[in-house]
Amino acid sequence: MATQLRAADPAETTALAAIDVSDPLLYVHDAWREPFARLRRDAPVHYTADSPFGPYWSICNHADIQAVEARPDLFSSSHEFGGITIVDLMGDFNLPQFIAMDRPRHGDQRRTVAPAFGPGEIARMATNIRERTIELLDTLPFDTEFDWVDTVSIELTTQMLAILFDFPWEDRRLLTLWSDWGGDIEAALNPATKDIRQQHLVDMTNYFDRLFAERRALPPTADLISMMAHSDAMGEMPFQERTGNYILLIVGGNDTTRNSMSGAIHAFHQYPEEWQKLIAEPGRIAGAVPEVIRWQTPLAHMRRTCVEDSEVGGQMIKKGNKVVLWYISGNRDESIFPAAERLDISRPNARRHFAFGFGVHRCVGARLAELQIQILFEEMLKRRMTVRVTGTPDYVAQCFVHGYKKLPVVIERH
Ligand code: HEM
Repeated sequence: MATQLRAADPAETTALAAIDVSDPLLYVHDAWREPFARLRRDAPVHYTADSPFGPYWSICNHADIQAVEARPDLFSSSHEFGGITIVDLMGDFNLPQFIAMDRPRHGDQRRTVAPAFGPGEIARMATNIRERTIELLDTLPFDTEFDWVDTVSIELTTQMLAILFDFPWEDRRLLTLWSDWGGDIEAALNPATKDIRQQHLVDMTNYFDRLFAERRALPPTADLISMMAHSDAMGEMPFQERTGNYILLIVGGNDTTRNSMSGAIHAFHQYPEEWQKLIAEPGRIAGAVPEVIRWQTPLAHMRRTCVEDSEVGGQMIKKGNKVVLWYISGNRDESIFPAAERLDISRPNARRHFAFGFGVHRCVGARLAELQIQILFEEMLKRRMTVRVTGTPDYVAQCFVHGYKKLPVVIERH
Protein backbone atom coordinates (compact mmCIF):
# COMPACT_ATOMS: atom_id res chain seq x y z
CA MET A 1 0.00 0.00 0.00
CA ALA A 2 1.48 3.37 -0.97
CA THR A 3 0.83 6.67 0.70
CA GLN A 4 0.20 9.56 -1.70
CA LEU A 5 3.19 11.65 -0.77
CA ARG A 6 3.42 15.32 -1.50
CA ALA A 7 7.23 15.53 -1.65
CA ALA A 8 8.47 15.85 -5.24
CA ASP A 9 12.09 14.77 -4.90
CA PRO A 10 12.37 10.90 -4.97
CA ALA A 11 15.04 10.90 -2.24
CA GLU A 12 12.76 13.03 -0.09
CA THR A 13 9.89 10.67 -0.83
CA THR A 14 11.90 7.65 0.30
CA ALA A 15 12.93 9.42 3.46
CA LEU A 16 9.35 10.44 4.16
CA ALA A 17 8.06 6.90 3.63
CA ALA A 18 10.73 5.56 6.00
CA ILE A 19 9.69 7.75 8.92
CA ASP A 20 8.79 5.56 11.89
CA VAL A 21 7.49 7.66 14.76
CA SER A 22 7.11 4.58 16.96
CA ASP A 23 10.91 4.55 17.45
CA PRO A 24 11.54 4.77 21.24
CA LEU A 25 14.74 6.75 20.60
CA LEU A 26 12.65 9.71 19.44
CA TYR A 27 11.11 9.87 22.90
CA VAL A 28 14.08 9.06 25.09
CA HIS A 29 16.03 11.83 23.29
CA ASP A 30 13.03 14.19 23.22
CA ALA A 31 13.45 14.34 19.43
CA TRP A 32 9.86 13.70 18.32
CA ARG A 33 8.90 17.27 17.35
CA GLU A 34 10.71 17.42 14.01
CA PRO A 35 9.45 14.14 12.47
CA PHE A 36 5.88 14.93 13.49
CA ALA A 37 6.13 18.49 12.13
CA ARG A 38 7.34 16.97 8.86
CA LEU A 39 4.48 14.46 8.74
CA ARG A 40 1.89 17.14 9.51
CA ARG A 41 3.32 19.20 6.67
CA ASP A 42 3.97 16.53 4.02
CA ALA A 43 1.98 13.40 4.88
CA PRO A 44 -0.50 13.94 7.72
CA VAL A 45 -2.03 10.51 7.09
CA HIS A 46 1.12 8.43 6.68
CA TYR A 47 1.84 4.74 6.20
CA THR A 48 4.86 3.07 7.81
CA ALA A 49 5.27 -0.28 6.07
CA ASP A 50 7.84 -1.71 8.45
CA SER A 51 8.31 -1.19 12.19
CA PRO A 52 8.93 -3.40 15.25
CA PHE A 53 5.16 -3.17 15.74
CA GLY A 54 4.38 -4.13 12.12
CA PRO A 55 2.85 -1.83 9.52
CA TYR A 56 0.70 1.04 10.75
CA TRP A 57 -0.95 4.28 9.68
CA SER A 58 -0.12 7.51 11.50
CA ILE A 59 -2.83 10.14 11.89
CA CYS A 60 -0.99 13.34 12.72
CA ASN A 61 -3.19 16.41 12.45
CA HIS A 62 -6.00 17.61 14.67
CA ALA A 63 -8.86 17.36 12.19
CA ASP A 64 -8.05 13.81 11.05
CA ILE A 65 -7.62 12.52 14.62
CA GLN A 66 -11.03 13.94 15.47
CA ALA A 67 -12.56 12.40 12.32
CA VAL A 68 -11.27 8.92 13.24
CA GLU A 69 -12.33 9.20 16.90
CA ALA A 70 -15.80 10.30 15.80
CA ARG A 71 -16.33 7.01 13.89
CA PRO A 72 -15.86 4.25 16.50
CA ASP A 73 -17.92 1.83 14.39
CA LEU A 74 -15.34 2.04 11.58
CA PHE A 75 -12.26 2.39 13.79
CA SER A 76 -12.49 -0.16 16.55
CA SER A 77 -10.82 -0.05 19.96
CA SER A 78 -11.45 -3.75 20.55
CA HIS A 79 -8.84 -5.95 22.18
CA GLU A 80 -9.97 -8.65 19.73
CA PHE A 81 -8.14 -6.74 16.98
CA GLY A 82 -5.09 -5.91 19.13
CA GLY A 83 -6.37 -3.17 21.42
CA ILE A 84 -5.54 0.48 21.93
CA THR A 85 -1.77 0.74 21.69
CA ILE A 86 0.52 0.31 18.72
CA VAL A 87 1.69 -3.05 20.05
CA ASP A 88 -0.58 -5.98 19.19
CA LEU A 89 -1.04 -7.58 22.57
CA MET A 90 -2.24 -11.07 21.76
CA GLY A 91 -2.64 -14.33 23.69
CA ASP A 92 -1.92 -13.99 27.40
CA PHE A 93 -1.29 -10.28 27.03
CA ASN A 94 -4.52 -9.51 25.28
CA LEU A 95 -6.57 -8.18 28.14
CA PRO A 96 -10.23 -7.29 27.81
CA GLN A 97 -10.77 -3.91 29.46
CA PHE A 98 -13.42 -1.39 28.66
CA ILE A 99 -11.05 1.11 27.02
CA ALA A 100 -10.39 -1.72 24.54
CA MET A 101 -14.02 -2.65 23.87
CA ASP A 102 -16.63 -1.33 21.48
CA ARG A 103 -20.28 -0.75 22.10
CA PRO A 104 -22.36 -2.07 23.76
CA ARG A 105 -20.06 -3.60 26.42
CA HIS A 106 -17.85 -0.52 26.50
CA GLY A 107 -20.82 1.66 27.44
CA ASP A 108 -22.10 -0.76 30.10
CA GLN A 109 -18.77 -0.90 31.91
CA ARG A 110 -18.00 2.80 31.49
CA ARG A 111 -21.36 3.68 33.03
CA THR A 112 -20.47 1.48 36.02
CA VAL A 113 -17.35 3.43 36.95
CA ALA A 114 -18.41 6.91 35.74
CA PRO A 115 -20.26 7.87 38.97
CA ALA A 116 -16.94 7.56 40.86
CA PHE A 117 -15.77 10.58 38.82
CA GLY A 118 -19.00 12.61 39.03
CA PRO A 119 -19.17 16.12 40.52
CA GLY A 120 -20.27 14.92 43.98
CA GLU A 121 -17.43 12.43 44.28
CA ILE A 122 -14.89 14.90 42.91
CA ALA A 123 -15.93 17.43 45.56
CA ARG A 124 -15.63 14.73 48.24
CA MET A 125 -12.15 13.71 47.07
CA ALA A 126 -10.96 17.32 46.75
CA THR A 127 -10.69 17.83 50.52
CA ASN A 128 -8.73 14.64 50.96
CA ILE A 129 -6.45 15.34 47.98
CA ARG A 130 -5.75 18.86 49.23
CA GLU A 131 -4.80 17.63 52.70
CA ARG A 132 -2.41 15.06 51.26
CA THR A 133 -0.91 17.58 48.85
CA ILE A 134 -0.29 20.07 51.67
CA GLU A 135 1.29 17.33 53.79
CA LEU A 136 3.70 16.45 51.00
CA LEU A 137 4.59 20.02 49.98
CA ASP A 138 5.39 20.85 53.59
CA THR A 139 8.10 18.16 53.59
CA LEU A 140 9.88 19.52 50.50
CA PRO A 141 13.22 21.29 50.94
CA PHE A 142 13.98 24.78 49.59
CA ASP A 143 17.29 25.35 47.76
CA THR A 144 18.27 21.67 47.76
CA GLU A 145 18.21 19.49 44.66
CA PHE A 146 15.81 16.51 44.55
CA ASP A 147 13.94 14.41 41.96
CA TRP A 148 10.49 15.92 41.29
CA VAL A 149 9.21 12.75 39.58
CA ASP A 150 9.61 10.38 42.50
CA THR A 151 9.14 12.81 45.36
CA VAL A 152 6.14 14.74 44.07
CA SER A 153 4.55 13.44 40.83
CA ILE A 154 4.59 9.75 41.66
CA GLU A 155 3.70 10.23 45.30
CA LEU A 156 0.75 12.59 44.71
CA THR A 157 -0.65 10.51 41.86
CA THR A 158 -0.36 7.31 43.86
CA GLN A 159 -2.13 8.97 46.78
CA MET A 160 -4.91 10.21 44.48
CA LEU A 161 -5.50 6.68 43.16
CA ALA A 162 -5.38 5.17 46.64
CA ILE A 163 -8.13 7.65 47.63
CA LEU A 164 -10.18 6.74 44.54
CA PHE A 165 -9.94 2.98 45.24
CA ASP A 166 -9.92 3.30 49.03
CA PHE A 167 -6.73 1.22 48.72
CA PRO A 168 -4.73 0.20 51.83
CA TRP A 169 -2.62 3.32 52.38
CA GLU A 170 0.60 1.61 53.49
CA ASP A 171 0.63 -0.54 50.32
CA ARG A 172 -0.04 2.31 47.91
CA ARG A 173 3.37 2.13 46.19
CA LEU A 174 2.26 -1.25 44.81
CA LEU A 175 -0.02 0.79 42.55
CA THR A 176 3.07 2.54 41.17
CA LEU A 177 4.89 -0.77 40.64
CA TRP A 178 1.96 -2.40 38.81
CA SER A 179 1.31 0.69 36.75
CA ASP A 180 4.95 0.93 35.64
CA TRP A 181 4.93 -2.69 34.48
CA GLY A 182 1.41 -2.66 33.05
CA GLY A 183 1.96 0.48 30.98
CA ASP A 184 5.38 -0.58 29.65
CA ILE A 185 4.71 -1.79 26.12
CA GLU A 186 8.42 -2.32 25.43
CA ALA A 187 8.59 -4.71 28.43
CA ALA A 188 5.56 -6.57 27.07
CA LEU A 189 7.42 -7.31 23.83
CA ASN A 190 10.84 -8.07 25.29
CA PRO A 191 11.37 -11.84 25.89
CA ALA A 192 13.64 -11.00 28.86
CA THR A 193 10.94 -9.05 30.72
CA LYS A 194 7.55 -10.24 29.47
CA ASP A 195 7.23 -13.02 32.08
CA ILE A 196 8.18 -10.66 34.89
CA ARG A 197 5.54 -8.23 33.67
CA GLN A 198 2.97 -11.01 33.51
CA GLN A 199 3.74 -12.09 37.09
CA HIS A 200 3.20 -8.53 38.34
CA LEU A 201 -0.19 -8.45 36.61
CA VAL A 202 -1.17 -11.74 38.26
CA ASP A 203 -0.06 -10.41 41.69
CA MET A 204 -2.08 -7.27 41.10
CA THR A 205 -5.21 -9.22 40.17
CA ASN A 206 -4.92 -11.41 43.27
CA TYR A 207 -4.50 -8.35 45.50
CA PHE A 208 -7.45 -6.50 43.95
CA ASP A 209 -9.60 -9.66 43.99
CA ARG A 210 -9.22 -9.76 47.75
CA LEU A 211 -10.39 -6.14 48.08
CA PHE A 212 -13.18 -6.84 45.57
CA ALA A 213 -14.49 -9.79 47.64
CA GLU A 214 -14.28 -7.80 50.88
CA ARG A 215 -16.20 -4.84 49.43
CA ARG A 216 -18.84 -7.07 47.87
CA ALA A 217 -19.58 -8.58 51.27
CA LEU A 218 -20.21 -5.07 52.67
CA PRO A 219 -22.91 -2.53 51.76
CA PRO A 220 -22.00 -0.43 48.65
CA THR A 221 -19.70 2.55 49.21
CA ALA A 222 -18.53 5.34 46.90
CA ASP A 223 -15.08 3.95 46.11
CA LEU A 224 -14.35 2.51 42.69
CA ILE A 225 -13.78 -1.09 43.79
CA SER A 226 -17.06 -1.23 45.68
CA MET A 227 -18.87 0.26 42.67
CA MET A 228 -17.49 -2.44 40.39
CA ALA A 229 -18.10 -5.25 42.89
CA HIS A 230 -21.76 -4.31 43.32
CA SER A 231 -22.51 -3.75 39.62
CA ASP A 232 -24.17 -6.02 37.03
CA ALA A 233 -21.69 -5.06 34.28
CA MET A 234 -18.49 -5.66 36.29
CA GLY A 235 -19.47 -7.77 39.30
CA GLU A 236 -18.73 -11.13 37.64
CA MET A 237 -15.81 -10.62 35.26
CA PRO A 238 -13.53 -13.52 34.22
CA PHE A 239 -9.88 -13.42 35.42
CA GLN A 240 -8.40 -11.77 32.31
CA GLU A 241 -11.09 -9.11 32.22
CA ARG A 242 -10.55 -8.33 35.89
CA THR A 243 -6.80 -7.95 35.24
CA GLY A 244 -7.56 -5.77 32.22
CA ASN A 245 -9.90 -3.43 34.03
CA TYR A 246 -7.80 -3.15 37.20
CA ILE A 247 -4.71 -2.27 35.18
CA LEU A 248 -6.74 0.16 33.07
CA LEU A 249 -7.84 2.08 36.14
CA ILE A 250 -4.33 2.11 37.58
CA VAL A 251 -2.35 2.91 34.42
CA GLY A 252 -5.14 5.17 33.14
CA GLY A 253 -4.76 7.43 36.14
CA ASN A 254 -1.14 6.93 37.08
CA ASP A 255 1.45 7.54 34.36
CA THR A 256 -0.81 10.17 32.89
CA THR A 257 -1.38 12.39 35.91
CA ARG A 258 2.19 11.82 37.06
CA ASN A 259 3.63 12.98 33.77
CA SER A 260 1.32 15.99 33.62
CA MET A 261 2.77 17.14 36.95
CA SER A 262 6.36 16.56 35.80
CA GLY A 263 5.67 18.11 32.39
CA ALA A 264 4.12 21.15 34.06
CA ILE A 265 7.30 21.81 36.03
CA HIS A 266 9.46 21.38 32.95
CA ALA A 267 7.18 23.64 30.90
CA PHE A 268 7.06 26.44 33.52
CA HIS A 269 10.85 26.21 33.80
CA GLN A 270 11.14 26.88 30.06
CA TYR A 271 8.45 29.58 30.06
CA PRO A 272 8.96 31.22 33.49
CA GLU A 273 6.86 34.24 32.52
CA GLU A 274 3.81 31.93 32.54
CA TRP A 275 4.46 30.97 36.18
CA GLN A 276 4.91 34.68 36.95
CA LYS A 277 1.40 35.26 35.59
CA LEU A 278 0.05 32.69 38.05
CA ILE A 279 1.97 34.28 40.92
CA ALA A 280 0.38 37.61 40.01
CA GLU A 281 -3.09 36.13 39.46
CA PRO A 282 -3.68 32.71 41.09
CA GLY A 283 -7.27 32.92 39.80
CA ARG A 284 -5.88 31.88 36.41
CA ILE A 285 -4.77 28.44 37.62
CA ALA A 286 -7.89 26.62 36.37
CA GLY A 287 -7.19 27.97 32.87
CA ALA A 288 -3.53 26.93 33.03
CA VAL A 289 -4.27 23.28 33.81
CA PRO A 290 -5.55 22.20 30.35
CA GLU A 291 -2.65 24.06 28.74
CA VAL A 292 0.01 22.13 30.68
CA ILE A 293 -1.80 18.88 29.86
CA ARG A 294 -1.84 19.83 26.16
CA TRP A 295 1.83 20.78 26.28
CA GLN A 296 2.87 17.48 27.86
CA THR A 297 0.36 15.06 26.26
CA PRO A 298 1.14 12.18 28.65
CA LEU A 299 -0.12 9.48 26.30
CA ALA A 300 1.51 9.99 22.92
CA HIS A 301 -1.05 7.90 21.08
CA MET A 302 -4.10 5.65 21.06
CA ARG A 303 -4.57 3.01 18.41
CA ARG A 304 -7.62 1.86 16.47
CA THR A 305 -8.15 -0.95 13.96
CA CYS A 306 -10.01 -0.19 10.74
CA VAL A 307 -12.96 -2.59 10.36
CA GLU A 308 -14.18 -1.43 6.92
CA ASP A 309 -12.21 0.20 4.08
CA SER A 310 -12.39 3.90 4.97
CA GLU A 311 -11.03 7.20 3.69
CA VAL A 312 -9.15 9.50 6.07
CA GLY A 313 -7.52 12.76 4.94
CA GLY A 314 -7.54 11.62 1.30
CA GLN A 315 -5.97 8.20 2.01
CA MET A 316 -7.78 4.89 1.70
CA ILE A 317 -7.27 2.79 4.81
CA LYS A 318 -8.02 -0.91 4.38
CA LYS A 319 -10.03 -3.14 6.66
CA GLY A 320 -7.70 -4.71 9.24
CA ASN A 321 -5.09 -1.92 9.10
CA LYS A 322 -3.68 -0.50 12.32
CA VAL A 323 -4.36 3.20 12.77
CA VAL A 324 -2.36 5.22 15.31
CA LEU A 325 -3.81 8.53 16.51
CA TRP A 326 -0.81 10.63 17.50
CA TYR A 327 -2.25 12.97 20.13
CA ILE A 328 1.26 14.28 20.73
CA SER A 329 1.21 15.58 17.15
CA GLY A 330 -2.42 16.79 17.05
CA ASN A 331 -1.67 18.86 20.14
CA ARG A 332 1.15 20.62 18.27
CA ASP A 333 -1.00 21.30 15.18
CA GLU A 334 -0.35 24.99 14.44
CA SER A 335 -3.60 25.37 12.52
CA ILE A 336 -5.44 24.86 15.83
CA PHE A 337 -2.83 25.96 18.39
CA PRO A 338 -0.71 28.84 17.02
CA ALA A 339 2.88 28.76 18.37
CA ALA A 340 1.95 25.30 19.61
CA GLU A 341 5.33 24.53 21.16
CA ARG A 342 4.96 27.47 23.55
CA LEU A 343 3.30 27.06 26.91
CA ASP A 344 0.71 29.83 27.00
CA ILE A 345 -1.68 29.84 29.94
CA SER A 346 -3.81 32.44 28.14
CA ARG A 347 -4.38 30.15 25.14
CA PRO A 348 -8.11 30.53 24.54
CA ASN A 349 -8.69 27.06 23.05
CA ALA A 350 -6.33 24.90 25.16
CA ARG A 351 -9.31 22.70 26.05
CA ARG A 352 -9.46 21.50 22.46
CA HIS A 353 -6.40 19.36 23.16
CA PHE A 354 -6.58 15.60 22.62
CA ALA A 355 -4.52 14.53 25.63
CA PHE A 356 -7.73 13.01 27.04
CA GLY A 357 -8.79 11.64 23.64
CA PHE A 358 -12.10 12.51 22.04
CA GLY A 359 -15.51 10.88 21.57
CA VAL A 360 -16.98 7.83 23.30
CA HIS A 361 -13.72 6.80 24.97
CA ARG A 362 -12.72 10.28 26.14
CA CYS A 363 -10.96 9.95 29.48
CA VAL A 364 -13.41 9.25 32.28
CA GLY A 365 -10.90 10.47 34.90
CA ALA A 366 -10.13 13.82 33.24
CA ARG A 367 -11.79 15.95 35.90
CA LEU A 368 -10.02 14.13 38.72
CA ALA A 369 -6.62 14.58 37.06
CA GLU A 370 -7.29 18.28 36.46
CA LEU A 371 -8.35 18.71 40.07
CA GLN A 372 -5.14 17.11 41.40
CA ILE A 373 -2.99 19.37 39.21
CA GLN A 374 -4.99 22.48 40.10
CA ILE A 375 -4.65 21.78 43.84
CA LEU A 376 -0.91 21.22 43.41
CA PHE A 377 -0.44 24.63 41.73
CA GLU A 378 -2.67 26.41 44.28
CA GLU A 379 -0.78 25.01 47.24
CA MET A 380 2.64 25.67 45.64
CA LEU A 381 1.72 29.30 45.08
CA LYS A 382 0.46 29.70 48.65
CA ARG A 383 3.92 28.50 49.79
CA ARG A 384 5.67 30.84 47.31
CA MET A 385 7.37 27.92 45.59
CA THR A 386 9.00 28.41 42.20
CA VAL A 387 10.64 25.29 40.81
CA ARG A 388 13.79 25.40 38.69
CA VAL A 389 14.96 22.37 36.68
CA THR A 390 18.63 21.80 37.49
CA GLY A 391 19.68 19.04 35.09
CA THR A 392 18.77 17.13 31.96
CA PRO A 393 15.47 15.27 32.34
CA ASP A 394 15.54 11.50 31.98
CA TYR A 395 12.72 10.58 29.56
CA VAL A 396 10.69 7.37 29.25
CA ALA A 397 11.91 5.32 26.26
CA GLN A 398 8.69 4.39 24.49
CA CYS A 399 6.05 5.80 22.19
CA PHE A 400 2.94 5.26 24.34
CA VAL A 401 3.55 6.76 27.79
CA HIS A 402 5.17 10.12 27.14
CA GLY A 403 6.99 11.29 30.20
CA TYR A 404 9.84 11.50 32.63
CA LYS A 405 11.76 9.00 34.71
CA LYS A 406 13.69 11.70 36.55
CA LEU A 407 13.53 15.49 36.73
CA PRO A 408 16.14 17.10 39.01
CA VAL A 409 14.87 20.36 40.53
CA VAL A 410 15.44 22.98 43.18
CA ILE A 411 12.61 24.91 44.83
CA GLU A 412 13.20 28.62 45.33
CA ARG A 413 11.01 30.99 47.31
CA HIS A 414 9.59 33.79 45.17
C1 HEM B 1 -3.72 13.94 32.81
C2 HEM B 1 -4.18 12.76 33.13
C3 HEM B 1 -4.83 11.80 32.14
C4 HEM B 1 -4.65 11.69 30.79
C5 HEM B 1 -3.75 12.52 29.89
C6 HEM B 1 -5.51 10.60 30.34
C7 HEM B 1 -5.62 10.19 29.01
C8 HEM B 1 -6.57 9.30 28.55
C9 HEM B 1 -6.77 8.95 27.17
C10 HEM B 1 -5.98 9.49 26.00
C11 HEM B 1 -7.79 8.05 27.10
C12 HEM B 1 -8.35 7.37 25.86
C13 HEM B 1 -9.28 8.25 25.08
C14 HEM B 1 -9.67 7.68 23.74
O1 HEM B 1 -9.42 6.49 23.44
O2 HEM B 1 -10.26 8.46 22.99
C15 HEM B 1 -8.22 7.82 28.47
C16 HEM B 1 -9.22 6.96 28.83
C17 HEM B 1 -9.42 6.57 30.13
N1 HEM B 1 -8.85 7.11 31.26
FE1 HEM B 1 -7.60 8.66 31.34
N2 HEM B 1 -6.15 10.08 31.42
C18 HEM B 1 -5.78 10.78 32.54
C19 HEM B 1 -6.23 10.58 33.83
C20 HEM B 1 -7.04 9.54 34.23
C21 HEM B 1 -7.42 9.25 35.58
C22 HEM B 1 -7.02 10.07 36.83
C23 HEM B 1 -8.15 8.12 35.54
C24 HEM B 1 -8.74 7.42 36.73
C25 HEM B 1 -8.31 6.38 37.27
C26 HEM B 1 -8.27 7.71 34.15
C27 HEM B 1 -8.97 6.61 33.68
C28 HEM B 1 -9.28 6.40 32.35
C29 HEM B 1 -10.19 5.36 31.90
C30 HEM B 1 -10.90 4.35 32.80
C31 HEM B 1 -10.29 5.47 30.51
C32 HEM B 1 -11.14 4.63 29.55
C33 HEM B 1 -12.37 5.41 29.11
C34 HEM B 1 -13.21 4.69 28.08
O3 HEM B 1 -12.71 3.85 27.33
O4 HEM B 1 -14.41 4.98 28.02
N3 HEM B 1 -7.58 8.60 33.39
N4 HEM B 1 -7.46 8.59 29.33
